[in-house]
Amino acid sequence: MPNETLTITDNRTGKTYTVPVYKDSIRALDLRQIKVAADDFGLLSYDPAFMNTAACQSAVTFLDGDRGILRYRGYPIEQLAERCTFLEVAYLLLNGELPDADQLEEWTSEITHHTMIHENLKKLMEGFHYDAHPMGILMSTVAALSTFYPEARNIHDPEIRKRQIARLIGKMPTLAAYAYRHSLGLPYVYPDNDLGYTKNFMNMLWKRTEPKFRANPVLARALEVLFILHADHEQNCSTSTMRAVGSSYADPYATTAAAIAALSGPLHGGANEEVLRMLDEIGSKARVPAYIEQIKAGHGKLMGFGHRVYKNYDPRARIIKQVANEVFEVTGRNPKLDIALELERIALEDDFFIRRKLYPNVDFYSGIIYQAMGFTPDVFTVLFGIPRTVGWLAQWQEMLQDSEQKIARPRQLYTGSAERSLRAEELEFEAAVSTAA
Ligand SMILES: CC(C)(COP(=O)(O)OP(=O)(O)OC[C@H]1O[C@@H](n2cnc3c(N)ncnc32)[C@H](O)[C@@H]1OP(=O)(O)O)[C@@H](O)C(=O)NCCC(=O)NCCS
Repeated sequence: MPNETLTITDNRTGKTYTVPVYKDSIRALDLRQIKVAADDFGLLSYDPAFMNTAACQSAVTFLDGDRGILRYRGYPIEQLAERCTFLEVAYLLLNGELPDADQLEEWTSEITHHTMIHENLKKLMEGFHYDAHPMGILMSTVAALSTFYPEARNIHDPEIRKRQIARLIGKMPTLAAYAYRHSLGLPYVYPDNDLGYTKNFMNMLWKRTEPKFRANPVLARALEVLFILHADHEQNCSTSTMRAVGSSYADPYATTAAAIAALSGPLHGGANEEVLRMLDEIGSKARVPAYIEQIKAGHGKLMGFGHRVYKNYDPRARIIKQVANEVFEVTGRNPKLDIALELERIALEDDFFIRRKLYPNVDFYSGIIYQAMGFTPDVFTVLFGIPRTVGWLAQWQEMLQDSEQKIARPRQLYTGSAERSLRAEELEFEAAVSTAA
């Protein structure tokens, strides 16, 4: 018997069971043998919101929330953000290794080849009202891609899968930029394949009448770093959605659209938009203490603060704070930064936040940078969705290749009525309805 085991005594029956411990976990299915009577279903584990349940084994991202560590495929996020391009990091997440020069050239050209979207998709976009939220447009157009590429259903063919992955990564900035320009009533700008991933995105967002758009290199690099920081974050809400929907073998476009839906919520990717609204509501540095008191009294949450897994400073927030300074050198300082810094200062010294281990997360500063760069708040979550598509796809691919995975199907603890019958008058009514019919 290996000593990596757990012995459980069922006090209902006095029986003892020994189950293996693997990587500091037990298999929930090993609990099923624990029964009071032979025809019992067996013991279940109950874990609303998956607070303490690992649903997969993954080699993509390592996260230690207590120590504030984030690594993609073993590389610390700080090193990747400093030294790599977004497409290198995307390759790393999907393939497990950083590309060499030839691989990077081939990968870049593959992604670049897929930046155009079908003209009919533009017509679909035209149907949205002028004030449609760009996240709703992105979600719908990504879902619509599924009708343009029916081959995508063949998810078990590695070549077809690879093509859809490149398509999604290539088309995401185009769809996002079109959604943005649609909301402003501006004509769409076709991708410029001479430009890199982020510079081309900026071109599609902001080109007006000039023959060639030239992105500010500091802002382009800042966007690249923000994309790297947002590329994956292991089993968060949208990634778990990607895995759950993908486990039914839905095609990658439908699956990614579902992940985008999950990301759009204010407790997830929508938080950066909410941070800006909150800073607007606070209005000035002087009003920060009163706002914090209001939060402590139970009126709302401090948006951009707290995290399900980070119980320490989010390492991405630390890098973003640095990027903010570089961006403000170009754009001028966003006055909201002073309010944010004051919020952070007071919150980090306050017992309410200290006791609950609430620190700024990735969304706390990203919105302020995006706004300084010229983005409106309703597009912030879209900016999160573009790079996160890479993480979703890396995790989706891993899930499909994992022989332990099956269609996701949690159990429930039923709390409704025990069996009962319709009352006599209800039976009479049913009989009258069926006679009349
Ligand atoms: C991210 C988040 C959803 C994590 O939630 P969670 O893991 O379920 O944590 P809980 O809601 O159980 O929070 C634990 C305690 O901290 C409090 N808390 C959590 N986040 C808080 C916040 N941002 N402001 C104030 N209080 C907060 C909760 O009210 C709870 O207090 P209680 O113990 O007195 O009931 C949550 O922190 C949040 O809503 N943050 C704001 C939204 C945000 O920035 N999301 C982006 C995440 S990257």
